[in-house]
Amino acid sequence: MKFSRILGVAALLAAGSTLAQEAATVTPAPEAEAAPVATLEADNTPATWGDAQAGAGKAAACAACHGLDGNSADPQYPKLAGQHERYIARQLALYKSGERNNAIMLGFASTLSAQDMRDIGAYFASQKVVPGVADDTVIASGPNADRKFFEVGQRLYRYGNPDQGVPACQACHGPDGRGNPGSAWPQLGGQHAGYTANALTAFRDGMVWGKDANANALMAGVAGNLTDEEIQALATYIEGLHNVADAPAAEAVADAAPPQG
Ligand code: HEC
Ligand code: HEC
Repeated sequence: MKFSRILGVAALLAAGSTLAQEAATVTPAPEAEAAPVATLEADNTPATWGDAQAGAGKAAACAACHGLDGNSADPQYPKLAGQHERYIARQLALYKSGERNNAIMLGFASTLSAQDMRDIGAYFASQKVVPGVADDTVIASGPNADRKFFEVGQRLYRYGNPDQGVPACQACHGPDGRGNPGSAWPQLGGQHAGYTANALTAFRDGMVWGKDANANALMAGVAGNLTDEEIQALATYIEGLHNVADAPAAEAVADAAPPQG
C-alpha cells in the first residue's frame, strides 16, 4: 500500500513534534521532509513556466469571484492566493477538458491556453493567502466530547488515524499547510472551511479529478473513512492554519473575529 510509507513519515513527525497550542490561532509543527510518493505529472501541457506579470492581467477576469489577489471574500469561492502554479494550471486544464466537473469554471477555463493557465497560476502563486480563524468551541458530546473542535482536525492533520487508514495530511500538504510548490500537492492553509469541507465530502464519496493518465485518486482514498465531524474539524483547522511569520494580515483577521467564549 502506498499509504504505509506515508504513515511511516507521520510516525516520525509525531515522535519529533511538540504541541504548543494557543486558542484559535493554529501553530504549525516544524517543517519536515515531504512524503516520498511519486510526483504527479500535473497538467500535461507544453507550456513553459508561468510569467506572473503576464498572469496578473489575465487574472482580472477571475477577480469577481476569487478576489483581485486571490483572497476571495465570499466563502463559496476558493482562495487561490499562494496556491502553486502547477496545481492551478492542472485544475484549469481539468476544468477545460471537463475532467473536473464544474459548469462555472468550465466557462472560464475554456478560453485559456496552456500558457495562460501557467501565467495565471504564477500570478496567484506570487500572492499571499490571508488565513481565517479556527473554531475552538468545545465539543459537548460524542466520541470527541470535551475537545476543542479544531483540535480534532489538528490531530488528524498531523498524525492521521492509522486505525481507520487515514494518513497524516501534513505528509503531503506540509506542517503549515503550504503543500509542495514543485509538485501537484496543493496549499490548503487559510482556505475557506466551507470549500474544504465540500471538497473532502466529495472525495469521501469517491470524487477523482482527472481521467486515465490524469486521474489522481489519492484524496478519494485519504478521505474514504472520515466522519462528518472529522471533515468539519479538519476544515476549520485548515482555515486557521498558516505560517505565522509569513502572514502579516493574520493578526488583523484574528482581532476582527468575535470574542471566544
Ligand atoms: C463566477 C465566479 C467565478 C469566476 C469569475 C471564476 N471562478 Fe474559479 N471557481 C469558482 C468556483 C465556484 C470554484 C469551485 C468549483 C469546484 O468546486 O470545482 C472555482 C474553482 C477554481 C479553481 C480550483 C481551486 C482549487 O483549490 O482547487 C481554480 C484554479 C480557479 N477556480 C481558477 C479561476 C480562474 C483562473 C479564473 C479566471 C480566469 C476563475 N477561476 C474565475 C468560481 C469562479
Ligand atoms: C499522499 C499525499 C496526500 C495526503 C496524505 C493528503 N493529500 Fe490532500 N491532496 C493531495 C493531492 C495530490 C491533491 C490534489 C489532487 C488533484 O489535483 O487531483 C490533494 C487535494 C486536497 C484537497 C483539495 C484542495 C483544493 O484546493 O481543492 C483537500 C481539501 C485536501 N487534499 C485535504 C487533505 C486532508 C484534510 C488530508 C488529511 C486527512 C489530506 N488531504 C491528505 C495529496 C494528499
